[in-house]
Amino acid sequence: LTAVFAQDYKNRINENESKVPQFTLPDVLTCNNGKKVKTIKDWETIRRLELLEIFSSLEYGRTPTEKIKVSYDLLSEDPNALNGKATRKQVLFTFTNGRKKIEAILLLYLPNKVNGKAPVFIGYNFLGNQSTTTEKPIFASPSMHLSEDPSSEVWIRASQKRRWPFEMIIDRGYAVATMFYGDIYPDLNGLRDYSVISLFSDYDKRSKNHDEWNAIGAWAWGSSRIADYIIDNESRIDGNRIALLGHSRQGKAALWAGAQDTRFKVVISNCSGCGGAALSKRVFGENVARITTTFPHWFCPAFNQYAGNEASMPFDQHELLALIAPRHLYVASAEEDMWADQKGEYLGAYYTKDVYKLYGMHGLDSPIPPAIEQPIHNDVGYHIRRGIHDVTNFDWTQYLNYCDKYMK
Ligand code: GCU
Repeated sequence: LTAVFAQDYKNRINENESKVPQFTLPDVLTCNNGKKVKTIKDWETIRRLELLEIFSSLEYGRTPTEKIKVSYDLLSEDPNALNGKATRKQVLFTFTNGRKKIEAILLLYLPNKVNGKAPVFIGYNFLGNQSTTTEKPIFASPSMHLSEDPSSEVWIRASQKRRWPFEMIIDRGYAVATMFYGDIYPDLNGLRDYSVISLFSDYDKRSKNHDEWNAIGAWAWGSSRIADYIIDNESRIDGNRIALLGHSRQGKAALWAGAQDTRFKVVISNCSGCGGAALSKRVFGENVARITTTFPHWFCPAFNQYAGNEASMPFDQHELLALIAPRHLYVASAEEDMWADQKGEYLGAYYTKDVYKLYGMHGLDSPIPPAIEQPIHNDVGYHIRRGIHDVTNFDWTQYLNYCDKYMK
């Protein structure tokens, strides 16, 4: 039965540009009452808040304002990491509500050559901190055993090293910090009890509230907790120059984090696709029906109402991306990544332009995406590179160049 069901949704996936439906995008600057935003003040005090409410109540769920207690323990510090170029730290975060605790480990590299404070990239990894490097010792991330197949060889040391070119980042004078996203919310349906969400005082595991937050909301929350730690404790990092980077599902979470938390000065979406940078109303590649079926634990229940009915959505993803203005936004796609709808990702970034314009900033100029590997580094950045759904050195080179332009 499951196979038939999956096939059914698969059949409804469109990857043919000529079959993209006609649609009208909601105007990002038109308020709920129909009035048009004309000033930065109107944007910041009215429309921006309306949009945050829309994404909280209809897509990702509501992020609580309650503070969860956290303590930090330095597990290791090596001033001679990466051939002496970096100081490597591993910091244990223990989140607790007094009855229960959840642990996460941050792996951090600081550039030794930088006198004074360095800018930093923050980003989750998919397969544990040990997967990001051949360096030793790297502690296994605490929640790895809760993953789908903990014995699989994907979890081995350095299996995702290519996505984390630490030395290249350090050579460019940036610090870099990563954490296993499963430490914040183990990425399987049914594991809410093991996520940070379960630490909040109003946690009810049976809650079906339409605006109940879920994994993407939790990952976004966790990014802000990494920012807290860095700003309060890392004297070698400049808390005013934090770039948040997320790939794919973590790109969706990075955009949501960047929309809510203005301490992220650059927000980078790498192949974030459906529920990330891609416009839902194009219904190209992965769609709402498919994503909410395969990953029922990612969004709030209200999002399910748009399954097979994107046309009825009163919002779209360009409005999420616009919440990052006037801070910097970078969206990247991969040529072979139809599933993430590259053109939809470009248009999501393009349609933020009126908000950037309000701030006197320069978004993307053309509704037609640029050619392959012709990056645009306006205030809003974009590139599409050759290859598949992944994070490559080409991507990192662009992010470093872009951050040099806007964060250095
Ligand atoms: C799946 C999922 C995407 C997601 C991707 C990833 O393909 O359908 O929505 O972005 O996994 O996280 O790599």
